Amino acid sequence: MGGCGVAQDKGACTNTIIVIGAGTMGAGIAASAAAAGYAVALVESAASARERAAAGLTKTLGRLLPEGTAAADAFARISLVESLAQAPPGDLYIEAVPELLDLKHTVFAELDRVAPAPALLATNTSSLAVSEIAKATGRPQNVVGIHFFNPPALMKLVEVVRAEQSSEESVRAAVEFVERLGKVPVVVRDTPGFIVNRVARPYYLEALRAIDAGTADAESVDAILEGLGFKMGPCRLMDLIGLDVNLATTRSVYEATQLERLRPSPLQERMVAEGRLGRKSARGFYDYGK
Ligand SMILES: NC(=O)c1ccc[n+]([C@@H]2O[C@H](COP(=O)([O-])OP(=O)(O)OC[C@H]3O[C@@H](n4cnc5c(N)ncnc54)[C@H](O)[C@@H]3O)[C@@H](O)[C@H]2O)c1
Repeated sequence: MGGCGVAQDKGACTNTIIVIGAGTMGAGIAASAAAAGYAVALVESAASARERAAAGLTKTLGRLLPEGTAAADAFARISLVESLAQAPPGDLYIEAVPELLDLKHTVFAELDRVAPAPALLATNTSSLAVSEIAKATGRPQNVVGIHFFNPPALMKLVEVVRAEQSSEESVRAAVEFVERLGKVPVVVRDTPGFIVNRVARPYYLEALRAIDAGTADAESVDAILEGLGFKMGPCRLMDLIGLDVNLATTRSVYEATQLERLRPSPLQERMVAEGRLGRKSARGFYDYGK
């Protein structure tokens, strides 16, 4: 990298962040960056998702910045556009499109064409190898993982993933960016599920097995674990994350580790096939009405 790094003083650098994908994660990441003073372009190909994101941004920024006109000022720093061609040149690009390697490769190949040479290129992938994603660019040293947790505007922890080819400068710039958002970066190696998703797999999988075996229903499992001090029971949490997103993560961690105890659950496979994806489809373990 070099030149206009993402962590430089605002006066010396335009500090423009481009977020690709305005779904559950991208919109929250954009809100966090705008709240921290960055100019943000949020790139979303689906018109319906752009509409949803615009409404969500107003709400999230109102929560993050309740004082005076700060939320409105932050909202004004975000432009919501349809394609990368419509976005200004960025210092940092954060990809948050669905968890499909081919799609990530397409996005990173396009970033290679449009992003200025010193730009930091990041992926928010939960479970794909960042080193694999980086292969789609001619500048893999500029690629890192910046893995936010859901809901991204509120969760403090962020995993900064050092891929095989990431330069020290790229990792440092990512850490400084995360700190500037007021969050807590943890640098992790590019291993399946990184730290958090690997540690969390048994939390979901044991709950799914207990429910599938008829040992307990979702409400009881959640009540027990919340009673033990977990903020959200595994079923409520899967509904929030999206069962499809959660299953995709389990599949990639299982494929990479081949650990039998991390094998995806047939119950979750059935629920995803039936479109019971959680809050986003209004039905998962719980019913969310309209
Ligand atoms: N949902 C979670 O809890 C969570 C947590 C951490 C990380 N992640 C990771 O973040 C990434 C995004 O997940 P999500 O849950 O926000 O997905 P999502 O499906 O809610 O949103 C993805 C968005 O990307 C858009 N999109 C697809 N292709 C595009 C393109 N070429 N250009 C612009 N927009 C495009 C889609 O229209 C959609 O709105 C995934 O890699 C996922 O694994 C998700």
